[in-house]
Amino acid sequence: MASTNNHAAQPPSTPAWTPDSWRSKPIKQVPNLDPAAVARAAAELSNLPPLVTPTEILKLKAELASVARGDAFLLQGGDCAELFEYCNQSAIESKIKLLLQMSLVLILGCDKRVVRIGRMAGQYAKPRSSDTETLADGRVVPSFRGDILNSYDVDHRELDPGRLVKAYHYSAATLNYSRAASSSGIADLNRPMDWDLGHVQDPKLKTKYSEIVTALETSMRFMNTIGALGSNSASVSTVDLFTSHEGLVLEYEQPLTRAFSSTAINGGVNHKMSTKPRSDSSKQQQPEAEQTQYFDTSAHFLWIGDRTRQIGGAHVEFFRGIANPIGVKVGPSTPTTDLLELLRTLNPSREVGKITLITRYGAAKVQDLLSAHIRAVEDSEYAGTVVWQCDPMHGNTRSTASGVKTRRFGDIFAELQETLRIHKEQGSYLGGVHLELTGDAVTECLGGSEELGEEDLAVRYTSLCDPRLNEKQALELAFEITHHYRNEAVQ
Ligand code: PEP
Ligand code: CO
Repeated sequence: MASTNNHAAQPPSTPAWTPDSWRSKPIKQVPNLDPAAVARAAAELSNLPPLVTPTEILKLKAELASVARGDAFLLQGGDCAELFEYCNQSAIESKIKLLLQMSLVLILGCDKRVVRIGRMAGQYAKPRSSDTETLADGRVVPSFRGDILNSYDVDHRELDPGRLVKAYHYSAATLNYSRAASSSGIADLNRPMDWDLGHVQDPKLKTKYSEIVTALETSMRFMNTIGALGSNSASVSTVDLFTSHEGLVLEYEQPLTRAFSSTAINGGVNHKMSTKPRSDSSKQQQPEAEQTQYFDTSAHFLWIGDRTRQIGGAHVEFFRGIANPIGVKVGPSTPTTDLLELLRTLNPSREVGKITLITRYGAAKVQDLLSAHIRAVEDSEYAGTVVWQCDPMHGNTRSTASGVKTRRFGDIFAELQETLRIHKEQGSYLGGVHLELTGDAVTECLGGSEELGEEDLAVRYTSLCDPRLNEKQALELAFEITHHYRNEAVQ
């Protein structure tokens, strides 16, 4: 079991934190919801069992501590907006298979353990830049805020708090099938993989990838020979897949946030306590080891989005009290001084691996902005505590002349390469990537080894939000990361 740090992630005593203290703070991205309907949904949610347990959450936190120390790599990926209809066998299987296949490339190529987190089983909420959308016919309808609040169907855009409970059930079904499929062999990494590179157009790229594939196959054969891919190998055969989503709708997160006794968790029992925070006087009477920790049991890992990370705002207030490992999106609009204040607020005890900084500047800006952010953290008391993760997607979104939202593979790749280079130059460790991807053969991002052009976007564009990497483009990024670390190893 992961070791826990008893003084860490407690509800901070000053100022007092409670699961609902966020309500007294200014909040962004919250539409007007019917309070009575929200209260009904919250009552139902607070009675439902946790989706994930503190033991699992602490296990992930321990894994992220090893990423922060440079001993493992974090692969996080999934849809931009998960939809309730993605809760089906083939969509779940293809996403898990893709994440596993990418992680195998990374494990063998980078010679590091890989921690896998899906953006799934709960990624149903989307921040919006405008409350309304004007349709081609001139009608103005509420914006789509993700399946957790309304439907994409323009005739049913009304906000429905009953969807908060639906989101729980779809998350539960997705998680259930992910766990069942993982333990039933979908993730059998002993099976030969389909490394067909027939789609790679550029002969130079084909040669480069063929060399990586040959090296991977040799490693796999060797590991099979010595039995390292068997059930006893923790590095390759374990199929842990943690879940994550943006913690945007606090009306959903709060009722799933529960208090647990830390001694009970340490003893292996996820014993739930009263959700009421203890008063200071009762805290004094308890031995330290029996303090309360609050876990958001909706997912193992939650992140604060780029639009909701205001210091003094409701989201940061909510996140500072939960014991889960958390992510913070960091972009061109993040002042360097905010970064340290965020770390001090969210992780006052400086737990290693507690915070993942998910940087997303865009290929054109990363060079100007990343190194100052790295220096601010690594020259402070937080040196060595964070996981640096690159999200090369969200700073690189653009529209085609005909208005289709897309991303160029070249920009995504350039931001990732530049991020790797800058971390190397600064002596810090890029511990992970955060990607929007799907196991389906979509045509949403331009370029890649298939060389998708604008005319291809219409072929299979199914995302209702941001464009995702398809299977081939996602694997190509994994190859490129492998290529970087292999080159580094021989230098
Ligand atoms: C996202 O991850 O889908 C997202 C909205 O990102 P960001 O908050 O970085 O814009
Ligand atoms: Co997105």
